Amino acid sequence: MSTVTQPQPTIPLNNGVHLLAIGFGLCHTPPNATVEAVETAIRSGYRLVDTAAAYLNERQVGEGIAGSGIDRAELFLQTKLWISDYGRDQALRAFDVSTRKLGLSYVDLYLLHQPVPTHFDDTVAAYQALEELLADGRVRAIGVCNFDEQQLADLIAHTDVVPAVNQVELHPFYVQPRLRDAHARLGITSQAWSPLGGVNRYRPADPNAVRNPLAHPVVVGLAERYGKTPAQVVLRWHVEHGTSAIPKSTRPERIAENIDIFDFALSADDVGAIDHLDTGVRGGPDPNAIDPERYPLTIPD
Ligand code: A2P
Repeated sequence: MSTVTQPQPTIPLNNGVHLLAIGFGLCHTPPNATVEAVETAIRSGYRLVDTAAAYLNERQVGEGIAGSGIDRAELFLQTKLWISDYGRDQALRAFDVSTRKLGLSYVDLYLLHQPVPTHFDDTVAAYQALEELLADGRVRAIGVCNFDEQQLADLIAHTDVVPAVNQVELHPFYVQPRLRDAHARLGITSQAWSPLGGVNRYRPADPNAVRNPLAHPVVVGLAERYGKTPAQVVLRWHVEHGTSAIPKSTRPERIAENIDIFDFALSADDVGAIDHLDTGVRGGPDPNAIDPERYPLTIPD
């Protein structure tokens, strides 16, 4: 298995902290596969690891980090606060639980996992708790996930720190140009979840969502022309856009493949060709439909 040795591109966040362009995603990675996946990822060269309280694998992520022997300072660890812990006091407590499970004294990027439109006051209070953690040096940057343009505006109107990152569904079939323009205006970095479009295969909320960007003739043709795999072309497309992407896999060869993308670049025309694959149809759940009643998950200690 190869290890990436080229310098990895980073993206400066709005508070001066640098985010890596490619990270290792762990959504849906079962706890019993997580330790090995994290160790493999770190061995392959990943230095950004993305988890969440709601993935229920933070403890195993921590074990994988410890087992890898990596120096903590070399790693960028991001995790997310789940909606059942929104509100200031709940959020601060949940952060302590996450760091205890991870075995870390600080987190590099702490994110609200979802907006909760039906309880937006609690969403704001949770974000204010993130601001406190930032001021206390327990997190190096804060942000959100799955916020739309209006929700970003509402949050920013009620809080002091503009989110550094909005992590959203982004892949060649769901390009979100308007939201990304809003991010650029607001100084927010876009981070892509399901950057390979995997969500269209494993959890299509909309049965009409086109299934697999990696099998699309445009992507396959570019892969042949660049001598890369379809996944590498798609991940490079994210990098060309200045987007951070967190592909996930439990297969060692794919884990290595997905970070081995720093020795080529796509032309502007080829970036545009992938942009044109946008269907405007998301594969994942509508973020506006998420509330504690519909998603009653609570996070065990
Ligand atoms: P697996 O875990 O079997 O490798 P996304 O991050 O966009 O949601 O995509 C994740 C999905 O894509 C997973 O089902 C993963 O399956 C698969 N996948 C990850 N890397 C690759 C790759 N390089 N080529 C093909 N499929 C991949």
